[in-house]
This record gives sequence, C-alpha cells and structure tokens, in this order.
Amino acid sequence: MTGMRSRRETGRFGIAGADTAGTGVTDGSNRQLRWMPPAERKRKMKIGIGSDHGGYALKQAVIAYLEEKKIPYHDYGCYDEKSVDYPEYGKKVAHAVKNGECDQGIVICGTGLGISMAANKVRGIRCALCTDCFMAEMARMHNNANMLALGGRVIGPGLAVKIVDTFLNTEASTEERHVRRVSMIEAEDDDQ
Ligand code: RB5
Repeated sequence: MTGMRSRRETGRFGIAGADTAGTGVTDGSNRQLRWMPPAERKRKMKIGIGSDHGGYALKQAVIAYLEEKKIPYHDYGCYDEKSVDYPEYGKKVAHAVKNGECDQGIVICGTGLGISMAANKVRGIRCALCTDCFMAEMARMHNNANMLALGGRVIGPGLAVKIVDTFLNTEASTEERHVRRVSMIEAEDDDQ
C-alpha cells in the first residue's frame, strides 16, 4: 500500500517511530510514548518477565540482575520448576506489554523457541529470541523488538544477563528504513 497508511496499520498499534509529538519514538506496541531522554525512559521502564519450568532457573538470574539494577519488573510466573505449558507464560507477558502494563517483556523457556512463538502470536508484539549480544542489539535497533526471549537450556546466566543488559540499553533506530520495515511487520497479511 502506498500513500496514506490504512487504519489497520495506524489505528491499533501506532507506527513505531512516529509518535503524536512527531519526535519519532514509540514503543512499537499498542501504545505510544511521549519522547523522553533515554536515561529517563530507562528509569520509568517496567519489565514483564515470565518462563516455563525449562526457563525458571535462568529467570532467577535475570531477576537478580533486574533487582541489582533497580529496574522495576513483574514476574508473571511460573514460580517453580513443576512442568507447565510455555504458551501460557509467553502470552501472559505479551499481553502485559501490549496493554501497557509493562514496557518490555522477557520470556524464557528451555530453548526460547516455543515461548517466543507464543508471544509473537499477540498483535503488536515483536519478540526476539537472542543467543548473543549482537542479536539483542540488532533486535532493538533494527526491529524495535519489544520482547526478548532466552533459552534456559541454551545459554548460561552470565551471557543471559549481558544479553538482557544490551537489549534494555539499546534504543530503536528512528531511521526511516527501519521504521518502515517495522510498520510492514505490523501490517496485516490481507493488506498486501
Ligand atoms: C519444555 O520441556 C520445553 O519444551 C520448553 O521449555 C521449550 O523449550 C519449548 O520450546
């Protein structure tokens, strides 16, 4: 579609990178953020975190990092290593990000695969499974990812915390080509 964007592209999610003040920054979910300096935004940021049993142990390491950095978070479960279904937790966190309860989400299962797939079913969610810091940086810069997925049976806590730190400290690019591509992700299939 050329020219004016359809309501589907603009109405429910906002276009990442085009807020009402015209400053070029949104969180890419269904809500638009007024522009604020990155340091201030970080202080106000609330993280939603969730895992299944396969990601539970790694989630504790990530929570320890969030607490150390005094980053507010809400843990959407699970709360022990009893076997549970990862889609429930992926979607819980995704809905919290979508409805604005949280600014960004972190989800962890054994591989990070299932829980990221579940999260990505929620409209407006761009959940990136990352196994290194470069992926985390690009996921924020180029894809304006609003959720990060990790694999508790894939990476150790040291790397996981570095990935989380990179993800939370990288701003989405406001360059037109990246903003355009993210809005293309959000466009519904039948628009094409
Ligand atoms: C649970 O055993 C495992 O399948 C789950 O944690 C995850 O790896 C799925 O993608």
